[in-house]
Amino acid sequence: MRVMSGDYFIGVHDRELERLKAQHRAWLPETEALWTAAAFGPGQHVVDLGSGPGFAAVDLAKRVGRVTAIDKAANFLDHVRRQEIANVATLVRDLTRDDLKETFDGAFCRWFLAFLIADLDAVLDRIHASLRPGGVLAAMEYLGVEGVTSSPPMRGFDAHTRAWIDFYRANGGDTSIGRYLPQRLEQAGFRIRSVRVVGGLAHRGERWWHWWGRLFDDFGDTLVDGGFMAADELANLKIDWTHAPPGAFIHTPLLLQVVAERR
Ligand SMILES: C[S@@+](CC[C@H](N)C(=O)[O-])C[C@H]1O[C@@H](n2cnc3c(N)ncnc32)[C@H](O)[C@@H]1O
Repeated sequence: MRVMSGDYFIGVHDRELERLKAQHRAWLPETEALWTAAAFGPGQHVVDLGSGPGFAAVDLAKRVGRVTAIDKAANFLDHVRRQEIANVATLVRDLTRDDLKETFDGAFCRWFLAFLIADLDAVLDRIHASLRPGGVLAAMEYLGVEGVTSSPPMRGFDAHTRAWIDFYRANGGDTSIGRYLPQRLEQAGFRIRSVRVVGGLAHRGERWWHWWGRLFDDFGDTLVDGGFMAADELANLKIDWTHAPPGAFIHTPLLLQVVAERR
């Protein structure tokens, strides 16, 4: 595994880049529906906050005038830059520290604010200040992971769910951010235009099934090494997952999609 510089606690390396690519594909229909709800369209300049390698930024750029992808991990942004897309720019910024000097028509973030809990209000203030009046933020963040479970019950599955929640928390993140994000947006000077919740049932072999199952291979060892789950729970989970019967299904994390307008 080639380790890249810069870091967020999930990791900044090639394997995580590939996982983010697969994750983007798994949630693209819902992401596009959020962009439609936010009325992101031609002529607008939209910022993708915590863009990572920019898989969403590149698709977003097909529907708006231009996109600026911002992330603190320069190596993730290199992936976007190398594609030389005329209407996609990149900026290395740590949103917990750096002000945004530009003014945008819209802002988008996905799986980003959940990592910045201690600085959430300061980051929301920064996003607010970077939008023109009437500009819109479209955020897609975890509402909850607690309900993630499987049918039939698989050994280690619920332990892994718990471990994922605890892993976030131990690193200053929160998989429940969606529960209080709308209120915090209002406090920061936004007016909530719409909220929606996506996620839920995924049958064996469907896109969300593969998305969640990939975590066992990509992060299982990290969760075990960190004491968040036991080695035999992970080993049994991998066996039961591989042998899941055709009728098996899971309930995925729920994601909040909130569209908020700068007052
Ligand atoms: C889970 S990834 C999500 C990437 C992308 N939004 C997506 O949906 O594919 C979280 C990203 O947030 C970035 N990030 C975390 N903390 C940040 C901060 N303080 N400032 C800027 N980016 C940050 C990480 O470097 C990482 O690329």
